[in-house]
Amino acid sequence: MAEKRRRLIAGNWKMNGLRDDGLSLAVQIARRGPTLKIPALDLLICPPATLVSLVVQAVAGSPIAVGGQDCHANASGAHTGDISAPMLADLGCRYVIVGHSERRADHGETDSRVRAKAAAAHAAGLVAVICIGESLAQRDTGQTLDVIAGQLAGSLPQSASQANTVVAYEPVWAIGSGRNATVEQVGEAHAAIRRTLLERVAGGGAVRLLYGGSVKPNNAKQLFAVPDVDGALVGGASLKADDFLAIAAAVPS
Ligand code: PGA
Repeated sequence: MAEKRRRLIAGNWKMNGLRDDGLSLAVQIARRGPTLKIPALDLLICPPATLVSLVVQAVAGSPIAVGGQDCHANASGAHTGDISAPMLADLGCRYVIVGHSERRADHGETDSRVRAKAAAAHAAGLVAVICIGESLAQRDTGQTLDVIAGQLAGSLPQSASQANTVVAYEPVWAIGSGRNATVEQVGEAHAAIRRTLLERVAGGGAVRLLYGGSVKPNNAKQLFAVPDVDGALVGGASLKADDFLAIAAAVPS
């Protein structure tokens, strides 16, 4: 029997936003998000680290959750420029994205590093949003399911549970490209990820599974109709309140 999972729409602002833009975006989402009245829907925004504190204050009193975009695997220490999971939790974050393909590409993050970051997030009481996804070359050579199964197995820490882990499937070629995966491709990948979760995580049937990669208001509805798609990790479209909220409004109620 299919598990009933809460839906999650997460906005990844990436390296975008100065104080005024970030504040106004957060305030609009905090004001308008709750008016959507979709039951069992969670909204999450992940601003750049510089804006986390401001955004936490801006959404205080609303049901909007705030997350970081990355964390270090250690809780503290000599790691210039890095931010730890307890620091994010201390500011009021409830989530942190780990292993985004841009971090894997720009900072050479491996599965084992991502696993250590996710474990650090769990230890700090945060929900880790673990990102996986194949490159275009891997898809074109028929390796997609093997690649994502390997990434997931390598990136999931022992501490993963249904309560502290969300998995985001983001085909690298669909991110920021305006080209999103077909519903068949998403369905195939999500079913495979669900099988791995069922094998590896207690309560794996209840772990939320997001799709990410050029999710827009005009394609969200069809993506949310795919089995095992429990929401979206939204990049570009999360920078406009209208678009982010229109994507959230496409969640079936
Ligand atoms: P996009 O980014 O929506 O701009 O494709 C998604 C992501 O990188 O999480």
